Amino acid sequence: MREIKVGVIGAGVVGSSVIKILQENQELISNRIGARLIPTKAVVKDLTKKRDINIALSDDINFILEDESIEIVIELMGGVEQAFEVAKKVLEKNKSLVTANKAMLAYHRYDLQKIKKNHPIGFEASVCGGIPIIKALKDGLAANHILSLRGILNGTSNYILTQMIQNAMSFDDALKQAQILGYAEADPTLDIDGSDAGHKLLILASLAYGIDAKPQDIIIEGIEKINASDIAFANEFGFVIKLLGIAKKIDNEIELRVHPVLIDKDKMIAKVDGVMNGISVVGDRVGETLYYGAGAGGDATASAVISDLIEIARGKNSAMLGFEKSDNSLKLRDKGKIQSRYYIRLSAYDKTGVLAKISSILSKNNISIQAFLQKQAKDGIAKLLFTTHISQESSIHNALSEIDSQDFIESKSFFIRIDE
Ligand code: HSE
Repeated sequence: MREIKVGVIGAGVVGSSVIKILQENQELISNRIGARLIPTKAVVKDLTKKRDINIALSDDINFILEDESIEIVIELMGGVEQAFEVAKKVLEKNKSLVTANKAMLAYHRYDLQKIKKNHPIGFEASVCGGIPIIKALKDGLAANHILSLRGILNGTSNYILTQMIQNAMSFDDALKQAQILGYAEADPTLDIDGSDAGHKLLILASLAYGIDAKPQDIIIEGIEKINASDIAFANEFGFVIKLLGIAKKIDNEIELRVHPVLIDKDKMIAKVDGVMNGISVVGDRVGETLYYGAGAGGDATASAVISDLIEIARGKNSAMLGFEKSDNSLKLRDKGKIQSRYYIRLSAYDKTGVLAKISSILSKNNISIQAFLQKQAKDGIAKLLFTTHISQESSIHNALSEIDSQDFIESKSFFIRIDE
């Protein structure tokens, strides 16, 4: 049986799982593909760290790059520019590349495709861990125009929100727990400020629409400002709070955004809890399809990495992102054009005329209030919580910046879009 040697760069939670699964399930995998995938070498940053893996180790990247017998290199080192340099070297050496690095792909996916067209570059593990969403978009749904894609793309923030909503856990405790469980990024800011979900959405948008957007081009907001008042309000009005990545085709424009949403408790995606991820993709021919599974964690992500090794071993090569942006008439939609209902939280000194002034600013900006809750003032400060009817994003920004400049405002306003 043919032997395919594999090198692993980065043997942390995911890398160690990849090595173990390849070793422990070798028979099963070989039977499925008719070739043996053999992990022979791994490169790590810190050789003194104790690791529960059985493989030759080095801290020199050339240990793998200069080894001509290694056909496939798995990049699991994380980071952006340094990882891109390594990926380029892998391709220059004419080796196949498998990466789980969504941050690097968010910036350099088109660069990689340009360097080596129709060369095996696998990135299934970069989006939603164990869910085969890349292959679903590249293969299963390839006959369709993708009308929309909406998903819970970050397991850590979903885990934190679930703990806050269901167990009244504090944000900090829930984050610590997610780190202990190995869900969070090395820098967990990327999970909670929405960046990680943003990176994943951009990768999916390239497959679905051929859009070469970068993180700075789209709305990316995280969960760090959500507090117990927001959760209680959502609960009272029949919502839960989720961090969603949303891609929508509107004529020839594509709306891309990542932010928390208030979402109807009864919707399917509202029931995707804990570290699980869930994605709904609507195609013009197939209708709605739904994907659910573990979005983080060593074994789930390793399962996706190995699916790329298997695809490469079977000899299925095609352009990494499916098609070239130059053929594409779809354009990124302007951020201000978003229309939504909004939940707004204000914190104001409890004085006469405050409500009148707020409603006059809202009505001047064509914003109509749908539901309203004023919590009894504590220490002279009142919490005003309300939802709006459908409004224009730019009007919400204008109104809130005028409200925030009033002297009765105690701390900056906060809003969450309501998912329809
Ligand atoms: N930190 C990521 C998450 C891991 O929580 O979803 C998977 O990309």
